[in-house]
Amino acid sequence: MMTKRILFLFLVCAVASVGAANPTLTIEAGNSVAKVSPRLYGLMTEEINHSYDGGLYAELIRNRNFLDNPNTPAHWSAVQDKSSAATISLDLSQPLNTHLPVSLRVDVSKASKRHPAGVANEGYWGIPVLPKTTYQASFYAKAAPGFSGSIKVSIEADDRSKVYAEGEVSGLTHDWKQYEVTLESSKVKPTTKAHLVLTLDRPGTVWFNLVSLFPPTWNGQPNGFRKDLMQMLVDLKPQFLRFPGGNYLEGDTVATRFDWKQTIGPLEQRPGHPCPWGYRSTDGMGLLEFLTWCEDMGAEPVLAVYAGYSLGGAHVNPGPDLDPYVQDALDEIEYVTGPVTTKWGAERAKDGHPEPFPLHYVEIGNEDWFDKSGSYDQRFSQFFDAIKAKYPQLKCISTVGTEQPESKRVKSRQPDVLDEHYYRSAETFLKDSAHFDNYDRKGPKIFVGEWAAYDTSFPPWNGRSAKEPPTANMTAALGDAAWMTAMERNSDLVKMQCYAPLLVRVDPGARQWRPDLIGYDGLTSYGSPSYYAFQMFSRNVGDEILKASLDDPALHYSVTKDSKSGAILIKLVNPQPAPQPLHLNIRGVASLESTGTAITLAAAPDANNSIDNPTHVAPVTVQVSGVQPEFDYTLPADSVTVLQLNAQ
Ligand code: AHR
Repeated sequence: MMTKRILFLFLVCAVASVGAANPTLTIEAGNSVAKVSPRLYGLMTEEINHSYDGGLYAELIRNRNFLDNPNTPAHWSAVQDKSSAATISLDLSQPLNTHLPVSLRVDVSKASKRHPAGVANEGYWGIPVLPKTTYQASFYAKAAPGFSGSIKVSIEADDRSKVYAEGEVSGLTHDWKQYEVTLESSKVKPTTKAHLVLTLDRPGTVWFNLVSLFPPTWNGQPNGFRKDLMQMLVDLKPQFLRFPGGNYLEGDTVATRFDWKQTIGPLEQRPGHPCPWGYRSTDGMGLLEFLTWCEDMGAEPVLAVYAGYSLGGAHVNPGPDLDPYVQDALDEIEYVTGPVTTKWGAERAKDGHPEPFPLHYVEIGNEDWFDKSGSYDQRFSQFFDAIKAKYPQLKCISTVGTEQPESKRVKSRQPDVLDEHYYRSAETFLKDSAHFDNYDRKGPKIFVGEWAAYDTSFPPWNGRSAKEPPTANMTAALGDAAWMTAMERNSDLVKMQCYAPLLVRVDPGARQWRPDLIGYDGLTSYGSPSYYAFQMFSRNVGDEILKASLDDPALHYSVTKDSKSGAILIKLVNPQPAPQPLHLNIRGVASLESTGTAITLAAAPDANNSIDNPTHVAPVTVQVSGVQPEFDYTLPADSVTVLQLNAQ
């Protein structure tokens, strides 16, 4: 629900009039100083906060291949009642294959049609059930000699008082075979208080592996993405996706890096791996899924390749030791871009995507300034030389930017782009919005590959307290918006930028970091105020930066033009607690329509969105009348505004 405060501000601000003595934004409409980077607004992603497993990746079964915990079938429980009995255990003696060596053994010693027994999965903080919805369940199973019954597959209330959807498979043999069943839910009230239940109606022993349950996915893609989250991402109109990290690329150790070759092909061949954020990743979200995700959003991949440094501090020595990792990166680029006549292009086609994906940027590592051995310069050079030799058109990004000490930066080669990361308080962003104005234009371009304002007195890596909401408030959105004006005004230099982290599961224990852009539980999702600020910017980019100046440092601005339509797009941030009249002086414009549009995000600094109140802070779009080459416009208190003026 829109706050009353916003409505009130709309009524007082929508009338334009000519005045003086207010701060002035002067725009030279005929003076385009540079092009806006066509890839300025994008997204950054990694497995953190259950971004994929329990998040965007729509799989509902947790620990589907029983590798989460070597000692116990985590997230699984035996199903039995007073008149039935079952035990469950991990079993290494019945591997599905070499990739999935552990299966779940279910021993039912007593059961009947009225009193079945078996096993249940609790999902990621519950199995979400929606009314009249089709779920695809599948699993591998085999039975011990003597069992010839069927298996009932159902989605049931946690207390087993209700069955929301059910189906059955029969014909189990002594060999592994995959079974599939479609479950249709009835007219239920949406809930996450449910389990997937697999039961037998007679005694027997059955083994399971790769137990899966998918709800309807984005575009109906198999092994696909959660629909509401995809919609929220598509609504941001991202031009690129930086993946797979972040720390997730590096892993805690070399062995637990994002080893892309282990993430492609059939799910039966993907064991998953420990992720540095404290849980195991299924790798259901593998390289091809990342690429499909880009394609679905109309975005281009910015591919980060593992460069021989892992978060725990280990590094691979440059030289021959590093060669296999360099080759892996070349193979990965071939998998992404190669025609089907190449080895890895053919592999991609075999995986279902013959068309190559577009690729312009490759990032070599992640935050390699943490490497105390000082080996990044040499490691970067080795990757850079190999990539440029085979793919001279690709631009190579160094992970050490100018925000890091000179001693950490790459010197042996000239990186095409530097990735700079800025996690700062909202106040710091507001103070530093001239940050890029004086950068050397002759040096490498800049990619702000991670940034976010925090709204607390402590930085994000200490911001895990369950007391804090997972997403930040309007104070942070004001800092974020000011920072975006800084990047957009300088987008001749800042070629790409992306907020991080993108996604957070809000259930207790699910998150490792705050703030994040989009929050969700099993059923619903919401965007933070910063999400809406980002959306307002990314949907009103323009393609030319206009010369402009503002004589009040308390306000933040960026002015661009859409050369096709002629529209002038003005972004303004007023972080002050009072409305701020602003004088606009638009010079060099041949014609200006008297009616424009204002999109405004305004709310009290501590206002926030949440699962229960998802659009408490949301943009409001109104028409602005009285637009002329000189006019006054009042910016609401604590606000982000995009003015769209129709000019020629
Ligand atoms: O965005 C969270 C983490 O912050 C990233 O994984 C890492 O690159 C940075 O330190």
